[in-house]
Amino acid sequence: MIERSSVEIAGRMIANAKHAVFFTGAGISAESGIPTFRGEDGLWKKYDPEEVASIWGFRRNPRAFWEFSFALRNKLFAEPNPAHYAIAELEEMGIVKAVITQNIDMLHQRAGSKKVLELHGSMSKLDCLECKKEYDWGDYIEEFNREEVPRCKVCGSWFVKPRVVLFGEPLPRDVLEQAIEESRMADVFVVVGSSLVVYPAAELPYIAKSCGAKMILVNSEPTVADHIFDVKLYGKAGEILPQISKIVKEMKQKS
Ligand code: APR
Ligand code: ZN
Repeated sequence: MIERSSVEIAGRMIANAKHAVFFTGAGISAESGIPTFRGEDGLWKKYDPEEVASIWGFRRNPRAFWEFSFALRNKLFAEPNPAHYAIAELEEMGIVKAVITQNIDMLHQRAGSKKVLELHGSMSKLDCLECKKEYDWGDYIEEFNREEVPRCKVCGSWFVKPRVVLFGEPLPRDVLEQAIEESRMADVFVVVGSSLVVYPAAELPYIAKSCGAKMILVNSEPTVADHIFDVKLYGKAGEILPQISKIVKEMKQKS
């Protein structure tokens, strides 16, 4: 059970922040029913990321990527959970200036967050790698629901790829640059639900730390970067973040 005082300390830090930034990973969507990648029942225990989530795997056999996506289909349309809503509330209060996420599920936007930097892209757009035709997710929703591998509607190619960042691909440069800038500007940087092992995303908390941010971790277990955090709250994001948001609201009402 989390010490009430640690949640209070975190709440105070965030309430007094001039530029709070949240950085999220798969763990924040776990309570929405979306599996995480690592840990005892993580996706990479069942699937080989090289085969289903790398650009060389996709170019070798796009079916493997799509079958992996079909297996997650009903999870891709999950609902935001109280953790997503708590961050959106803190943005509404003018405290959170940006959410930097590694997730492709768009749950932050669906919970109402406005400034969301999607380091690893999302499923909203797709590109034909052969003729470069751009598509919206809606152009392929029927094929996806019928679990058919999408073919380009212009050139017939099987290499139609969602704009998610696969292993071996660069991150969208403009998003990464904005995320670095936000990490530099943050006076409070809150990491939620990430193992912090995948770069360059995992560099951002270190950038925030080196620029003087107060560091808060909300995660169900220790991470490799625990030594850089001022406050560590081990537990479920969906339980902890609403407590933090409540403390912040109460402090704002008193001030
Ligand atoms: N609340 C808080 N933290 C949680 C919860 C929860 N309910 N459930 C799990 N966690 C924590 C786990 O303890 C773990 O440390 O969330 C973290 C999830 O770590 P990963 O599964 O490694 O996910 P993430 O850090 O987002 O992975 C980064 O790796 O495979 C790539 O592109 C993929 O974006 C992903 C990147
Ligand atoms: Zn094409």
